[in-house]
Amino acid sequence: MTTIQVKDEWKAGAKLTADQYRDWYRRSVEDPEGFWAEHGKRVDWINPYTKVKNTSFAPGNVDIRWFEDGTLNVSANCLDRHLATRGDQTAILWEGDDPADSRAISYRELHGEVCRMANVLLANGVKKGDRVTIYMPMIPEAAVAMLASARIGAVHSVVFGGFSPDALAGRLEGAQSSVLITADEGLRGGRKVPLKKNADRACEIAAQAGQAVSTMLVVRRTGGDVAWQDGRDVWWHEAREEVSADCSPAEMGAEDPLFILYTSGSTGKPKGVLHTSGGYLVYASMTHEYVFDYRDGEIYWCTADVGWVTGHSYIVYGPLANGATTLMFEGVPNYPDPSRFWQVVDKHKVNIFYTAPTAIRALMGAGDDKVTSTSRASLRVLGSVGEPINPEAWTWYYRVVGEERCPVVDTWWQTETGGILITPLPGAIDLKPGSATLPFFGVQPQLVDNEGEVIEGEGAGNLCITDSWPGQMRTVYGDHERFEQTYFSTYRDKYFTGDGARRDADGYWWITGRVDDVLNVSGHRMGTAEVESALVSHPKVSEAAVVGYPHDLKGQGIYCYVTLMEGESETEELRKELVAHVRNEIGPIASPDKIQFAPGLPKTRSGKIMRRILRKIAEDDFGALGDTSTLADPGVVEDLVEHRQNRK
Ligand code: WT7
Repeated sequence: MTTIQVKDEWKAGAKLTADQYRDWYRRSVEDPEGFWAEHGKRVDWINPYTKVKNTSFAPGNVDIRWFEDGTLNVSANCLDRHLATRGDQTAILWEGDDPADSRAISYRELHGEVCRMANVLLANGVKKGDRVTIYMPMIPEAAVAMLASARIGAVHSVVFGGFSPDALAGRLEGAQSSVLITADEGLRGGRKVPLKKNADRACEIAAQAGQAVSTMLVVRRTGGDVAWQDGRDVWWHEAREEVSADCSPAEMGAEDPLFILYTSGSTGKPKGVLHTSGGYLVYASMTHEYVFDYRDGEIYWCTADVGWVTGHSYIVYGPLANGATTLMFEGVPNYPDPSRFWQVVDKHKVNIFYTAPTAIRALMGAGDDKVTSTSRASLRVLGSVGEPINPEAWTWYYRVVGEERCPVVDTWWQTETGGILITPLPGAIDLKPGSATLPFFGVQPQLVDNEGEVIEGEGAGNLCITDSWPGQMRTVYGDHERFEQTYFSTYRDKYFTGDGARRDADGYWWITGRVDDVLNVSGHRMGTAEVESALVSHPKVSEAAVVGYPHDLKGQGIYCYVTLMEGESETEELRKELVAHVRNEIGPIASPDKIQFAPGLPKTRSGKIMRRILRKIAEDDFGALGDTSTLADPGVVEDLVEHRQNRK
């Protein structure tokens, strides 16, 4: 396997050398208290901490606290502390869906807007600890809403703007949130997204389940027509005129919640991942600085949506805590044409660019000329996140986009981890295409086999982390039991990531993907159980089983086996109806790629669906079905193979 050694140009001015990385890493695991006592100082504390680490992964007693007696305000760290030194510097550089639309918002302006929105929230009765749900397009007001919530000590729950009314309603209920911030409509790839309409519907559904929304703050984006509920709905552009542009930040404990972010697991409904204030900010800002080798004055662009954790940590909190200029893009990679990313890079002289493998693969398919017709001379560091990046895509990104001038950092992490855990550091760590390379400071990965035995040296297995880091999630909102069960019960005293990984002879990490029933479709995480429950909520469906299969562009595609109710017929129309139904229930990202009507599903005698077999058939690899002798009715497999939807 090729190794790309750190180039001299990357070393010049880099934050750390290879030796420093090794020294810092050693100290971070041998003396975590000392290491983090020092690096915790990178954020401004109102009352400094005296305690650093107080964490336990012990069964029945999982408890994670960092800097627990310190107090701070996250929004003040992202705004107020920069005013004296960089008040006029651009904080958010916004690029609209339409290439003619852009806006630069300075730290001073952002501070004013955040204070105003904080005051509007206060005026509407929002208090410390209340949950504020944010359902927004990619406009600066999304970041304003997050920071405003943080400013007054409320807990935000951002819901991706592509989710359906049902999905939004479930999250309003889960977070018991009575305040919703949204926009009239979003704009993506020239198409309008009816956010307010979806939000109205979500409020109806949530109200039926007993969760009333009393305030809906609406940002005007497109000016499109929207329904209005007097007494509940408030226009942001009107409310902001009524309040002051000053709002003193609330003093928060390090372990006070900052946000909840719902994410899919292998079973049940999405979980509310809870992150707290101090450790999260220390970790997000430190990783942002070192992983991207961020230098003062640079333009940094992460193409994620703020609806995902990448947007939280690496569009909003990390970059703003570091006083960076963070670019926020409303649009999509291929609108108006597949050169858009690189045109934006040239337009704003972007230095650091962070995107997902699915976008890289799609743009690779559009042809090199779409890239080479642009300059990209400003680029210095390239990043990848969200799913395993195949070596071909990695190499194309490195060669064609970065012209071999820019190191590529493949960053592995999760919603639960708050920030990047395994990654190269530019200028310090040699690269291997397809490998996330080495752990960040304080992170101790470990491989275990299915019995929990530790695998030393070279090998493959289940990826665990043996000790806490400051950005780690603290609990599942409202369900600590589920937190322990999901992450700490599979392997004793370890955090289990749900991913499989391989460690090579050089100690480099290669993440191979989920080993549980979680799908990763174009970098979007989804539980097979969620898609199944959407399918069976259709009146004609009696049973469904969903698996992933390898997909050239999306990484994984969604393959559904559907058993119909007695007397229903297997038609093309019904197939389309089921796809539309799942989109309606969850959102377009969950659109099934293949639906196979299955008169029966392969089950064990105790009634458990044998997913291993379903995965093989979906992959068109049915020659290797393995042992089918435990099946209650081995005959069903023949029918499934015969009617498989994925013939190569
Ligand atoms: C899952 C987490 C973390 C931000 C975006 C996704 C997969 C993420 C990589 C990578 C291989 C990756 C894992 C992980 N994943 N980054 N660089 N290489 N796999 O966050 O939605 O919580 O998904 O994404 O499977 O468990 P998420």
